[in-house]
Amino acid sequence: MLVLVTGATGFVGSHVAEALVARGFDVAATVRPTSDQRWLVGLPLTRRQLDFGAPERLAQALDGVEALVHVAGITRARRDADYRSVNADGTRAVLQAAAAAGVKRCVLISSMAARGPDGAQGPQSPYGHSKLAAEHVAASFEGRLAIDVLRVAGVYGPRDTDLLPLFRLARSGALLLPPRAGRLQPVFAADVAELVTGLIERRLGFGPWPVAEARSYGWDELAELLSAALGRRVRSLHAPRAVFLAAAGASEGVAALLGSAPTLDRRRALDITDSYTCDVSATESASGWCARTGLAEGLERTVRWYRERGWL
Ligand SMILES: NC(=O)c1ccc[n+]([C@@H]2O[C@H](COP(=O)([O-])OP(=O)(O)OC[C@H]3O[C@@H](n4cnc5c(N)ncnc54)[C@H](OP(=O)(O)O)[C@@H]3O)[C@@H](O)[C@H]2O)c1
Repeated sequence: MLVLVTGATGFVGSHVAEALVARGFDVAATVRPTSDQRWLVGLPLTRRQLDFGAPERLAQALDGVEALVHVAGITRARRDADYRSVNADGTRAVLQAAAAAGVKRCVLISSMAARGPDGAQGPQSPYGHSKLAAEHVAASFEGRLAIDVLRVAGVYGPRDTDLLPLFRLARSGALLLPPRAGRLQPVFAADVAELVTGLIERRLGFGPWPVAEARSYGWDELAELLSAALGRRVRSLHAPRAVFLAAAGASEGVAALLGSAPTLDRRRALDITDSYTCDVSATESASGWCARTGLAEGLERTVRWYRERGWL
């Protein structure tokens, strides 16, 4: 079966592509002329050009494809409107092409941000709104495409650059953490990839299905586990949300001057100071999958990988 993975050059998508190859699927990965393809090196897969704005190119990318995993998306942007155009409008373009090509199975990688933080009535950021809009787009294709939507929690693991600064800070011996009351419930990249590969052959239904490790953690626990993974004492200090927002403001200011996307933006500052927990029991019982990598092991494996690459 030929499976097309969009966003295969990125962090999550490369793990998905790798796992699909390991399971014996024929895999095609989408690339763009500007893509950094380092995570695809050595993988036996074909490459197809992805351009959301070019329907004839999209038709070529989907030609002969039996299953689609739509991972491509942006998690940081210079302008809020970019989230919608890539995450929601891009999803529409890809699904339209998939429906026209007669693709049999689709998995859409959404985010817990589409639900919003614990206690909220919906998404709280332009990113979250764009991911919810992508889910609505997917819903509009029900009947034409067999789509499962995964609401994935914060992903960490080898190749991730988003959380690398946290590891580097911890390595320096001191960690600035969000307020103590917050909880996090991340998921190891390889576990997400394992779930996705299983879904190619066994449909769950539309969902959206929360995807995370089954248990949540406090920030102090994270600090302890990071300290164990790094093999050094890490002193942590909790700072109020305002400190994270101020840092985000400064990062956005610098990025605006440089014309780049900020490393820490308001959305990320809010995300890390809010709690994002979820009950994954429905996902687990429907799929038979569970995130096998606990945070302690996942952090150790991530630290090992960062060190091997010289990133840490
Ligand atoms: N990381 C997380 O914690 C997390 C959690 C939940 C959900 N997700 C979702 O997972 C997906 C991937 O996130 P990630 O963390 O892996 O991000 P990433 O490393 O930045 O990868 C993004 C991927 O999307 C592609 N892409 C971005 N804009 C595109 C465009 N306009 N046209 C075509 N391709 C485009 C990129 O291709 P190029 O290489 O060509 O730029 C890259 O392959 C996103 O949909 C995100 O919402 C991520």
